[in-house]
Parts: sequence; structure tokens; C-alpha cells
Amino acid sequence: MASLPATFRAFRIHDDAEGYRSGIDEVTIDDLSEGDVTIQVAWSGINFKDALAATGKGKILRRHPLTGGIDVAGIVVDSSSDQVKVGDRVLANGSGLSEVRDGGYSEYLRLSSDIVVPLPETLSMREAMGLGTAGFTAAMSLYRMEACGQKPGMGPIVVTGASGGVGTIAINLLTAAGYEAHAITGKVEEFDWLEHLGARQCISRHDLHWGKSRWKRRAGLAASTALAATCWLESAGRLTSGAISPVAGWQAGTA
Ligand SMILES: NC(=O)c1ccc[n+]([C@@H]2O[C@H](COP(=O)([O-])OP(=O)(O)OC[C@H]3O[C@@H](n4cnc5c(N)ncnc54)[C@H](OP(=O)(O)O)[C@@H]3O)[C@@H](O)[C@H]2O)c1
Repeated sequence: MASLPATFRAFRIHDDAEGYRSGIDEVTIDDLSEGDVTIQVAWSGINFKDALAATGKGKILRRHPLTGGIDVAGIVVDSSSDQVKVGDRVLANGSGLSEVRDGGYSEYLRLSSDIVVPLPETLSMREAMGLGTAGFTAAMSLYRMEACGQKPGMGPIVVTGASGGVGTIAINLLTAAGYEAHAITGKVEEFDWLEHLGARQCISRHDLHWGKSRWKRRAGLAASTALAATCWLESAGRLTSGAISPVAGWQAGTA
């Protein structure tokens, strides 16, 4: 076991008799969730869920107190796992961080080796957390789409919520992977930016009318959105509303 400082700082979220509050506390490693891998934290992203958790405006934490931070990148300083070695650069996204186990806003953190992902040589820890859980979500969605048979030749992919965290990375990623990405956004002022990211076509969502009955009628499109939801559900154990919807291609690919 590497020698850790007796105490270190963590951003703790409490909900007790004194009320809901968050801030920097001095903690010991034994105050934190258990795990067979201990990391020295380098970076953690800031996700919309982190703000909801820290302020209590969203019901994110399922037990208290916990350390905030939905994701983390750092260097392994102790490990009893065969899969993860001291000195490895690793990350963890989602997987209950800052929901049921302590998250990344801490100088040290214990994690279960089954949620730890090795960082590729070409990605710095800072870059990994800049892309963050939104980037991981977009990447996992495309990964699962391709595992289900999606190919660039099947047709364009429409990205809804295009100007958001998941949407912008999805457009960039799809374009880099050879797909024709079409952006649906509520922000016409972001058309140029979305084109810069790779969108071949930008559509204002205010010009579209998607009644509920239309979604019900078009089983293929509904399946597309369910796919994106399933991607995240299967990969990280939670549900997204689905930022990537492979319209024409997915219908063709799954008929
Ligand atoms: N970020 C993550 O780590 C993560 C992880 C898992 C799941 N998710 C889920 O993925 C979805 C997108 O997350 P995000 O992080 O990209 O959020 P975000 O940055 O807040 O972006 C959401 C986008 O949705 C669009 N939008 C807002 N109000 C809308 C409305 N009334 N009707 C249709 N579109 C609307 C907006 O884009 P336009 O103006 O361009 O349309 C907005 O930028 C969310 O459902 C989230 O829960 C996110």
C-alpha cells in the first residue's frame, strides 16, 4: 500500500439534521467508499449532474454523505486487482460515482477494478475529463450502434439536442468516423458552429412538429431513440433520453 497522507481534501455532499450542504472537507481514506484500486486523482469533469448533486436541486445522491464528481482520471497508487497495476493511468465514468459511491472531487479515491478503464496512450488525463461523461456517452452510443451493424453507407445520422454536451461530441465523432451527421437544434445561431464540428445539415427544431402520435406511428424512429437509450443503459447502468438517433440507417439496419 502506497503511503497516503493521513488526511486529504474532498468535496463532500451532506444531507442530515443540519440540512443539505456541500463543501471541502478533510477526510481519511477510510471515510470513502471501498474498492480494490486506490487512485491519486488528477482530473474530474464538471457535468450538469454534478451541479444538481452539489446544490440538491436534483435527486442524484442515493446515500449521504458522498464525495461529488461523476467521473475521474488519475494514477493508480495501490491495487489488489490482477487487472489494474500501480502506476496505470485510468478513468472511471458514471458507474454510481456521486450516486451510491464516492466520486472524483477528491485527492484520493478507492474504486472497484471492474469500473476502472485504462487510458489510451494518446489521451491525457486532462483531455479524458474534458471530454468527460458526455463524451463517453456519445462514444458508447456509436460503439453500440456499430456493434448492432450501423455503417456509414446506411445513410445520415440525425443528432438531436445537437448544441448540448453529448450532441456536439456526437457530431464531431460521427463525422470523424465517416458518417454524415445532421444536427437538429433549437439554436439557429449555433448553425455555423455545428457545421464547423462536421454537421452536413442543420435543422431548427422549432420548424419541426413531432406530435406524440407521430412517434408512436413510426416504430423505426422510436427504435432509434431506444437504441441510444439502451447504449447508455447497458454501458453505465443509467438511462439517457437519447442524443443520437440514427434515423434512416438504423431503420434499414434493423428491419
Ligand atoms: N452529459 C452526460 O454525461 C450524459 C450522460 C448520460 C446521459 N445524458 C443525457 O443525454 C441528454 C443530453 O445531455 P447533455 O449533457 O448533452 O445536456 P445539455 O448539454 O444540457 O444539452 C441538452 C440539449 O438538449 C436540447 N434541448 C433543450 N431543451 C430542449 C427541448 N425542450 N426540446 C428539445 N431539445 C431540447 C438543447 O440543444 P439544442 O438547443 O441544440 O436543441 C440542449 O443543448 C440528456 O437527456 C442527459 O440526461 C447525458
